[in-house]
Amino acid sequence: MEQLLQETLAAFEKEYGRKPQWVVTAPGRVNVIGEHTDYNDGFVFPMAIERGVVIAAAPAVSGDEVPQGKAKIFSIAKKKSALVALGGNIRPYDYVRWFDYVQGVIAGALQEEGNWQVPSFVAVIHSNVPLGGGLSSSAALEVATATLLEAILEKKMDPVRKALLCQKAEHEFAKMPCGIMDQFISVMGKKDHLMLLDCRSCEPTMIPFTAQEYSILITNSKVKHALSGSEYPERRSSCHTAAEKLGVASLREVSKEQLEAGKERLTDQQYRRARHVVGEIERTVAAADAIKKGDYETLGQRMYASHQSLRDDFEVSCRELDILVEIAQKIGLAGGVYGSRMTGGGFGGCTVSLIQTAKMNEIIATLRKEYQQQTQIEPEIFVTRPAQGAEIIDN
Ligand code: GLA
Repeated sequence: MEQLLQETLAAFEKEYGRKPQWVVTAPGRVNVIGEHTDYNDGFVFPMAIERGVVIAAAPAVSGDEVPQGKAKIFSIAKKKSALVALGGNIRPYDYVRWFDYVQGVIAGALQEEGNWQVPSFVAVIHSNVPLGGGLSSSAALEVATATLLEAILEKKMDPVRKALLCQKAEHEFAKMPCGIMDQFISVMGKKDHLMLLDCRSCEPTMIPFTAQEYSILITNSKVKHALSGSEYPERRSSCHTAAEKLGVASLREVSKEQLEAGKERLTDQQYRRARHVVGEIERTVAAADAIKKGDYETLGQRMYASHQSLRDDFEVSCRELDILVEIAQKIGLAGGVYGSRMTGGGFGGCTVSLIQTAKMNEIIATLRKEYQQQTQIEPEIFVTRPAQGAEIIDN
């Protein structure tokens, strides 16, 4: 993140000819286990990663030519600027533009915090979370924006409210009906900890992950996922219909036995979707218990089981993700891999693997070589420790 920070500061000076007054960061995330459970009131088990978004900003001055009531944001990735509104009636646009994540958070914050007056500012945005890689690049941008507002206004939002505000921006301005996981972990992530989040009560429990002998390896299949398509909302509504037919508020309320007993009321597809969710909630709680006991083998087994269920019952994997998990499984415990699974919404993006740190280089080399042989795609592979959530940086 240090390099990202320095690049952002340099770009700010180049763009605006002075130093920024506020600098904030927000991390992306990887979900270790607990997939497609957040919008079913279940458990998720993500951690913040050592990659994220940095925003540097300063009050606008006349030379910046920023109209009153607007902010000018420059994206290093897009190599262009956009104006976002800081007041008035801000409505979502009919399609999603790159700066709508920023605009959505500002619109929501102004609406919720009735008395907030944000002065005109200029900003530079920089990120090293791969876009469409399933590591929550958009949540990181939303949470960084909310953190920037806190810095500018010298106000601190309640963390749950802050995360929900960012989720709302994602729903309304990015038109993606996500659950709460990504924004919660980007706000509340803690260095050296995983977060077991109960999505029914919104209560996080931070669980230490400090054993240096184990590492979290992220492999980007480079297949871009697009979750705002119909697949994600369809999965969501299947789950809700299944819960309704079973007479409960959410699939969190259903045990395996109840699901079997109510099977007749569901279509085969709804049954399989529900079976994934009910099993995944159980696996997530078991995985968190296993980490607490230092039982990494059990954790790894749960990760493989999660992948299988996402592939066969929930049907959100893809060939490339399956290939990555198969290679990991073939390396196996003897080669230092404990478990592996697709992470995030699916249909592309990344896998997450739990590995023995000492065998990291061999594992990376094998994954790279075999994946490339089978798909002709060069994957991006990196290791990360659990990182800190969003922060205002003194500069
Ligand atoms: C996306 C959503 C999350 C969650 C995951 C699947 O990342 O943004 O809320 O539903 O998919 O676990």
